[in-house]
Amino acid sequence: ATGAITIDPGYKNSGSCKSEITFLDGEEGILRYRGYSIEELADKADFLEVSFLLIFGELPNKAQLEKFENDIRKHTLVNEEMKTILEGFPKTAHPMGVLSSLTSALTAFNPKSVNVENEKEMYEAVCKTMGKFLVIATWTYRRRMGYPLNYYDNTKGYVENFMRLMFEIPTEPYKMDKKIVDALDKLFILHADHEQNCSTSTVRIVGSSHAGLFASISAGVSALWGPLHGGANQAVLEMLQEIHDNGGDVEKFVLKAKDKEDPFRLMGFGHRVYKNFDPRATIIKKAADDVLDALGVDDPLLDIAKQLEKVALEDEYFKARNLYPNVDFYSGIIYRAMGIPVEMFTVLFAIGRLPGWIAQWKEMRLNKEPIGRPRQVYVGNALRPFKEVKDR
Ligand code: SDX
Repeated sequence: ATGAITIDPGYKNSGSCKSEITFLDGEEGILRYRGYSIEELADKADFLEVSFLLIFGELPNKAQLEKFENDIRKHTLVNEEMKTILEGFPKTAHPMGVLSSLTSALTAFNPKSVNVENEKEMYEAVCKTMGKFLVIATWTYRRRMGYPLNYYDNTKGYVENFMRLMFEIPTEPYKMDKKIVDALDKLFILHADHEQNCSTSTVRIVGSSHAGLFASISAGVSALWGPLHGGANQAVLEMLQEIHDNGGDVEKFVLKAKDKEDPFRLMGFGHRVYKNFDPRATIIKKAADDVLDALGVDDPLLDIAKQLEKVALEDEYFKARNLYPNVDFYSGIIYRAMGIPVEMFTVLFAIGRLPGWIAQWKEMRLNKEPIGRPRQVYVGNALRPFKEVKDR
């Protein structure tokens, strides 16, 4: 990763891309944002610092960080007419579907940010997206609960605002718990970018047609929703709950996950790239113990998760396929301890991944990359003559 690398000029048509943002080594379990290790960033930085790093390429100094936070604050007001769109959804609608729709609708109220060409317009589109996305993400929960919608409080921090926007009700101000805010800040950092994963590739390919930032992010939200991708954090909790409700028999579920006739897979296990421990899972597993201890939460699902991990890691099937816990395996345990409802888990993944999506979209646009156009291997019929319907 530090040596000179040669880029195959054909990369432009290979469906892959070159990027300076995130380095991933799946064999060694290494993850770095702009050259900084995920371990150091999770331990020493905060989410807006890491967002700035991913999007603009360097860790911000104090003045740059303050300016970034203040410029985001200028764009946290969401057009009131967006509420009409929100109210069009049934309360039972999944928050990820609502979030994808609302994000795309932002284009209608901010038409200027569709085709940004220069760095100044791009900076404004970045701040608008960071500001408005957080607010509408929490509106998806408030709608489900039938609660009045909250507004961003410019006297509070970005992650503090998430908790307020989610849980503050008119009858009592939200009591901020620093332990929760710090843990959430770290979780958002761990989710912030991950090279060319499914949702990020989606953001890049939609953005490559110059469809605009909100439309590209909206497509990324839809891709992340799938249970094989970001939706896995919700699926893990539902799986752990099912194991718990079935008497905690983890061996039975590991067997089920190995049964080729059964479509069930162990959620939160395996990865397209990591064939070793996902470094984020290692950090989140430790954070789960720390946060639950700090909050005085004793969650039987954490014990089940640890047993499940132990049994799977000792199982020949999983070992032979290099299947390890991934970022989604323990994150839901922490969200649950924070009082976050399970249907919002993937929305939190999206909030964390937002700066990565923005950074990758910006890089693709500033590199003036061509429109995405993956090719295929054709395995269909050779040329054949048309047959009249009477002869078919
Ligand atoms: C994320 O790409 C990213 O970077 C994503 C992400 C990010 O930050 O953006 O890291 C976030 O999406 C993490 C992954 C979350 N998804 C899950 O936890 C869902 C459960 N995992 C599996 O669906 C699966 O592992 C995938 C989708 C994650 C990866 O799929 P692959 O690489 O296509 O795996 P595969 O289908 O090639 O599997 C190889 C073998 C197969 O068995 P064989 O056909 O060789 O006999 O491993 C088996 C699979 O059946 N396998 C599993 C399994 N995952 C793979 N068997 C049981 N349980 C599993 N979880």
